[in-house]
Amino acid sequence: MRPEIPSALVERVEHIYESEGYASRGEFIRDAIRRRVEEVEGESNVDFAEPIVTLNEEGGVKYGTDIRSGNPIILNRFNRPTGGNVLTSGHIGTGKTVTTQAVLMRELRERDDIHVVIIDPLQAFTGLAYASGGQRVSVGGGIGINPLEITPVPKKMVEEVPSLDPYTTNIKDVMGFFEAYFVSTEREVSSDDFALLERAVHETYTNHGITRDPHTHHLESPTMPDLLDVISQMAQYPTQYAHSDSETEIETIERSAAELLISLNSLSEGGEYEHFGRQTEISLFDGEHQLTHLDLHSNVSDTSLIYRQLFSLVVDRAKQVEGEVVLVMDEGRYLFNTPSTDTIETGFRHSRHYDLSINLIVQSLTDLENKELLEPVSNSCSIVQLHREPDLSAATAKKMGLSTGEADFVRNAEPGVSDSDFSEHLLRVDSEWRPVQFELDNDEQLVIDFDPRNSVSGLMDNIDI
Ligand SMILES: Nc1ncnc2c1ncn2[C@@H]1O[C@H](COP(=O)(O)OP(=O)(O)O)[C@@H](O)[C@H]1O
Ligand SMILES: [Mg+2]
Repeated sequence: MRPEIPSALVERVEHIYESEGYASRGEFIRDAIRRRVEEVEGESNVDFAEPIVTLNEEGGVKYGTDIRSGNPIILNRFNRPTGGNVLTSGHIGTGKTVTTQAVLMRELRERDDIHVVIIDPLQAFTGLAYASGGQRVSVGGGIGINPLEITPVPKKMVEEVPSLDPYTTNIKDVMGFFEAYFVSTEREVSSDDFALLERAVHETYTNHGITRDPHTHHLESPTMPDLLDVISQMAQYPTQYAHSDSETEIETIERSAAELLISLNSLSEGGEYEHFGRQTEISLFDGEHQLTHLDLHSNVSDTSLIYRQLFSLVVDRAKQVEGEVVLVMDEGRYLFNTPSTDTIETGFRHSRHYDLSINLIVQSLTDLENKELLEPVSNSCSIVQLHREPDLSAATAKKMGLSTGEADFVRNAEPGVSDSDFSEHLLRVDSEWRPVQFELDNDEQLVIDFDPRNSVSGLMDNIDI
């Protein structure tokens, strides 16, 4: 007779399979056996695709050295058919920021026509901002950012991407801001209230002459006080907004509008979030600076909300820029604190149509998986850099298309700290994975180590970026 297995235990085990990403117990067992067989057979740690094709793209810069051949890997992210997005992932302190900063320096040296914007919560890119004579913006001190800003999308792009509906995309982004705001301010908002808020947003745009018609999108965007005015009109004169004489409908509008006014209070003048009530005070792509450093360091309370808005702002403004734009997003985890992922997904998917390269840096692939963004984001990145991630699960590795050897390489890669003078990562270019060693030259080391508080002035004057 087979022993009875307690159902609670079965449930727990099922849960483990699920959390590891296996479809069934069978699949889990097959994977475990395969791994064991490979161990017993003493398979080598590296089982990468052969033969090794040397990458030397025209107009490219060095992204590291292929460990197998010792050859440099020269890539040009601006000249890739699938776009130039880059995903960089890895445990804290494994060389993600250093690698990204050095590659950017190399690209800035090579090209004087690219624009770079860096969203930097930890002041990790300060050296590059100084050395390149970039525009340094401190975003912490209540600087105006208008979540209702709508920017015209160039006609060429509307034609190239038939699925693009700029007005709807904008409304989704605005509603995404409010979802994130309600999480930040710990406000529970009912679906009735949220629906009325969306209606009020439409109404506010209509009042400003802005409609679905793209020709109206160059008009001045409304701001939060305009929206709050509409909502207070709704609370005062609900009958004007009702579709019927039904008392229930009128009461619902009145109650929801009043609730919303309370929930949105900190966005009004004098409120904690009033900086979201003004027109955006950050100038980007002004023709003067090639690089803009958005320093979020001094911000404490609403970093995630600001981070999300900066992403949305740069993506929107980049659409209007002639030439290539790189958007670096360090400490990308801030982006995942917000509930709606529409803006992120659309941003990544459409970026190549307007020559935008999004360079997202995260501490773990799991952060993306938890938001169901691993596939959409990694599929839209032609370059992926996996730095050391000791806890990389077999299931995640499988989703990324890694062999056992490649996954083990990621788990054990050199982090680059202490006395070693390089870091390692697994690099995917298009569809092939390569083990890579990354070294810095002296100038790069100087720029990366630069700290304005204790560095001698003029230290970087001779560095040519
Ligand atoms: N290629 C490298 N060569 C030398 N040292 C490196 C290299 N990459 C990283 N390091 C060292 O590792 C530290 C952490 O790297 P960093 O890029 O800040 O990590 P992460 O962004 O992954 O948290 C750096 O301060 C530096 O001392
Ligand atoms: Mg970092």
